[in-house]
Amino acid sequence: MVARHESFPSFLLYSLKSFLLLGLVQDSTSFIFTNTPEYPLRVASFNIRRFGLTVVSRPAVLSNIVRIIKRYDVVFVQETRDKSLASVDTLRAALGEAEWEYTASSPVGRGTYKEQYVYFYRPAVVKLLHAYLYNDSRDAFEREPYIVQFLYWSPAASSNVKVTLVGAHLTPDDVPNELEALTEVISQVKGNISDSQGIVTMGDFNADCNYLNGAERGAATLFNTPSEYTSFLRDTSDSTVSHKQDCAYDRLVLTEQGQRQVKVANVKAFDFEKGLGINYEAAYALSDHYPIEFSLL
Ligand SMILES: *[C@@H]1O[C@H](CO)[C@@H](O)[C@H](O)[C@H]1NC(C)=O
Ligand SMILES: *[C@@H]1O[C@H](CO)[C@@H](O)[C@H](O)[C@H]1NC(C)=O
Repeated sequence: MVARHESFPSFLLYSLKSFLLLGLVQDSTSFIFTNTPEYPLRVASFNIRRFGLTVVSRPAVLSNIVRIIKRYDVVFVQETRDKSLASVDTLRAALGEAEWEYTASSPVGRGTYKEQYVYFYRPAVVKLLHAYLYNDSRDAFEREPYIVQFLYWSPAASSNVKVTLVGAHLTPDDVPNELEALTEVISQVKGNISDSQGIVTMGDFNADCNYLNGAERGAATLFNTPSEYTSFLRDTSDSTVSHKQDCAYDRLVLTEQGQRQVKVANVKAFDFEKGLGINYEAAYALSDHYPIEFSLL
C-alpha cells in the first residue's frame, strides 16, 4: 500500500494527523467513508487518445493505463469513443470492480464525431453527489463540459469537503472562445451547486501551440485573472508525450467558493514514460497526452 503514496511526501504527516484525529471527527455531512484516506485526495485529468475497444484490446496499453489510474482516487478521462461503454467496463474490471466506479456522460459533439467524458473514482474515498452535462443553450462548446461534485475526507481540514469538478475537452478549432465560455460555466455552476468549497476546472484545453497563440493566451480571462481564477500550469508547461512537441495543452484552474476552501497542491503533468519506466513507443502507444495530476487538501 505504501508504494501508492511514494510521490506524495506529505503522506506521513497526514497519516499522523488523521491517526490522532481518528474517532473524534464529526461533520455536518453525516456520510462516513468506509476507507477514510489518511492522505490528500489524488486527482487527475487524462486525455487517453481515442479511448475505446481497440485501446483495451491491447494488453500492454491497458495495463499501463491501469497503472496510471491507480495512482489516483478520481480520474477525469477524455476522448472516449465508445457509445456502448464496453471499453470503459473493461477498464473498470481491470482496475478492480470492487474498488472502482465511474460516471460517464452521453456522447457530446456537434457532428457525427462524438466523445464521452468519464470520471473514474474510488467509492471508498469519495462520494459522487452530482453529475451532469452543462446546459449549453447558446451552443458555445463543441463538447459541453461534464460537471460533477464529490464529497471527500480532507485530512488538512479534518472534515468532509465538497468539491465541484468541471471537466472539458476543448475543440482545437475554437479554443479562445471556448476558454472564455468556461468562465460562464463556472459562474453558472456556482449558482447551481452552491454548497461547494471550491470549483476545479480542468482538461485538455488545447491551450497552446497551433491552437492558442501568445496574444490569445494573454487575453484569456481564465489564465489572467488571479483574483478569481488560480491557473496552476504555466504556458511553458508541457503535457505532450511527444519528444518533438512542447505544448501546455492540458490545464487546471481553481475557483474559490464558500467558507472553508479546497486547496490544490502538487500539480504537474505526470510523465509516464519516466514514471512507469516504459520506452517512448510504449508511452506514445498509450496517449499523446500526459495526465495532469494534483492533490486536493
Ligand atoms: C443543476 O444541477 C443539477 C444536478 O444536480 C442538474 O441536473 C441540472 O441540470 C443543473 N442545472 C443547470 C441549469 O445546469
Ligand atoms: C437549457 O436551457 C434552456 C435555455 O435556458 C432551457 O430552455 C432548457 O429547458 C434547458 N434544458 C435543460 C435540459 O435544462
